[in-house]
Amino acid sequence: MDSLLPLREAVAKLNRPFQIGTCVRPALLRDEADYAATVAAQFNTVTPGNEMKFCRTQPTQGQYDFRDADMLMDWAPAHNLAVRGHTLCWHECVPDWLNVLECSRADALAMLQRHIGALAGRYRGHITIWDVVNEAIEEDGTRRANSPWQRLIGDDYLDTAFHLTHATDPTARLYYNDFDADGMGGKADQVYELVAGLVKRGVPIHGVGLQMHIALDKRPTQAELAANMARLTALGLDVQITEMDVRVRHMPGTWEERFAQQAVVYREALEVCLDQPRCVGFLSWGFTDKHSWLTKRFGDDEAGLFLDATYAPKPAFHAMHAALAQAAPAV
Ligand code: G3I
Repeated sequence: MDSLLPLREAVAKLNRPFQIGTCVRPALLRDEADYAATVAAQFNTVTPGNEMKFCRTQPTQGQYDFRDADMLMDWAPAHNLAVRGHTLCWHECVPDWLNVLECSRADALAMLQRHIGALAGRYRGHITIWDVVNEAIEEDGTRRANSPWQRLIGDDYLDTAFHLTHATDPTARLYYNDFDADGMGGKADQVYELVAGLVKRGVPIHGVGLQMHIALDKRPTQAELAANMARLTALGLDVQITEMDVRVRHMPGTWEERFAQQAVVYREALEVCLDQPRCVGFLSWGFTDKHSWLTKRFGDDEAGLFLDATYAPKPAFHAMHAALAQAAPAV
């Protein structure tokens, strides 16, 4: 690792603003030296994996806990890293009290205003991008009924959330972020319709996050990803790949063969992003197989990231470097 050019230095050679990043766990930044050193060396942007979510910041109604988020907001700039805020409105990580709350629409709107004011206000001017709304729709385009904001406010909670965030932190770029909407067709079409509507209504949305939680056998082609990015940017929006990981454990072949295919998938996605002038960032959901949500969800030996459990580079890491080198202007 030591002899390899860090990803952030390869990105600096692109001569364009570009976020290369990962989600992080502040507790590991504090407790595990290899983890913290790798984040600081490799990336220019971090996303808090959980620490800005509602269930973590307001576990009891009216009582806020910003300790972990504050720690990241101190650590990141001290290591020259930008922070991507994640996430203001989501149907997961909702505190129990909010899941059972019954209140009027007016009271729910006031609560949304307090929530956004508390978080986006606390970090005003220090967050580059907010995932204002995360995963608001189902596969068929219907709204997620289990979102408290959907339940208590209705469809227009999205418009309101973007307006409130913009009023609170006018310099942050505001994103809609979703999964399984990376290529064309299906949910991607629904996300396109949703954000096109926001743009048409003059809602302050600036970008769309394509999460890219994918697998070797469940992923968009380069052409599909490029086409989706092209139609979203044609609306005047930026795009980012925001949470990439590539599952391999269920596939046939040796680990070596699977990691070789995984490398191609990472390289192709980064190539498409770098080829699109308004794709302004490429972030993964973790970076080492030692600490990945995938192992908890899909099995201990799932290995969807680009450093192994000892922080050694996998083929995917070298493939990302290849894509960055290819995109860098000749000197
Ligand atoms: O911190 C507690 C720990 O004290 C406890 O012992 C343990 C018992 O299970 O749980 C720990 O909290 C878990 C937390 O992750 C930290 O590991 C929560 O139960 C678990 O629900 C939480 O899951 C997170 C999930 O979002 C829900 O918030 C994952 O880490 C996180 O990777 C995942 O991230 C989402 C993005 O925000 C949105 N896109 C999809 C992505 C993957 O699902």
